[in-house]
Amino acid sequence: MDNCKECGKIILSDYRFCPRCGLSIFGDAPKGRDSNDGNEPEGDAASRFFSLARELSEAANIDALLKKIGGAIEEILCAERSSILLLDETGENLYFKTATGEDILKTLRLPIGKGIAGWIAQHRESLLVNDPYSDERFSPETDKKTGFRTKSIAGVPMIFNSRLIGVCEAINKKSGDFTERDIETLCGFSGLAAVSIANLQLRADQKNLYSNLIEFIVMAADSLSRPEPSPRGHAWEMARMAPLMGKELGMPLHTQQLLQRAALIHDIGFLGLEYPELIGINIDRKLNNDARYRLHTVVGSEMIKGIKVMKELRPFISCHHRYRNGEGFPEKISPETITLETEIIAILEDLMLKGDKAAIDPGRYTGEVFEALNKITSG
Ligand SMILES: [Fe+2]
Ligand SMILES: [Fe+2]
Repeated sequence: MDNCKECGKIILSDYRFCPRCGLSIFGDAPKGRDSNDGNEPEGDAASRFFSLARELSEAANIDALLKKIGGAIEEILCAERSSILLLDETGENLYFKTATGEDILKTLRLPIGKGIAGWIAQHRESLLVNDPYSDERFSPETDKKTGFRTKSIAGVPMIFNSRLIGVCEAINKKSGDFTERDIETLCGFSGLAAVSIANLQLRADQKNLYSNLIEFIVMAADSLSRPEPSPRGHAWEMARMAPLMGKELGMPLHTQQLLQRAALIHDIGFLGLEYPELIGINIDRKLNNDARYRLHTVVGSEMIKGIKVMKELRPFISCHHRYRNGEGFPEKISPETITLETEIIAILEDLMLKGDKAAIDPGRYTGEVFEALNKITSG
């Protein structure tokens, strides 16, 4: 065992790259390592590794960097092919992110637990198989699809921050068998690939958060005047009032912030109804205004379904025209599932549509929400 010089994590001997902080411990020879067995150029491995690590810090194109890591694996391990497989969003399958050889590989999904890569992912252990066709863990299906003959495999799991990201493999040693030493080298490169991918995912998440949030808010604000008979920009007025309501009801600051975000995008469904093709939903263009109006809560909720960071906003969009007394829509939402928080957006919407709080039916809301509205709008 060794310790990462950066974060202190104990690194098992078959890691050459810290799986917690992602910083290299390469250069400290793992315990029990023998001299170079002559199969691969050691100085080359280190210099290729460091040069790829340097590229990682500046990489704009992670795909290109992963291809280079694959190329380095093949060269340093004297392998015919290499592949970097990633865990898909369900966590149940692996898919090829980079693979030399057949393009068909890019379309395959390998279930966790099946085949050598599936076994490595399931057990989070490295594996050396020098006669795959006599190993019961090997699945020949990929070979059947590509026409390639797998003769040997060295594979390691890619782990970052204790999270399995995928599997890295070298296929078919050009001469002789893969060795434990190859596994060690592969661990170094797979660590590099893991950090590249984790960085990529982080950047994508951040991009997803900012671009979607800002785009949605701006576009929604622009689309608010149809077919809801409320003034253009009413979302901004609601975003001003919603945190005040939360404060009046003794809600914590983070809930007040959530209410503000919810108020801003509560009517985003109108955008989807106007431009269904942009968001890939199927809406009958001939629907009349009333039908479209009744759909905007469902459509809005669907629009942000895949956006992780906006998950908490969905109930506000779904429920902002549904009331405690069973009135409103969508009918499939049970009044019992309405919360004080979603009621705040609903009562503000009611106020915007009616233009006068005296016209609001108090029976639609819990007393404290109705009272809070009275307080923030009087005086
Ligand atoms: Fe609205
Ligand atoms: Fe609405």
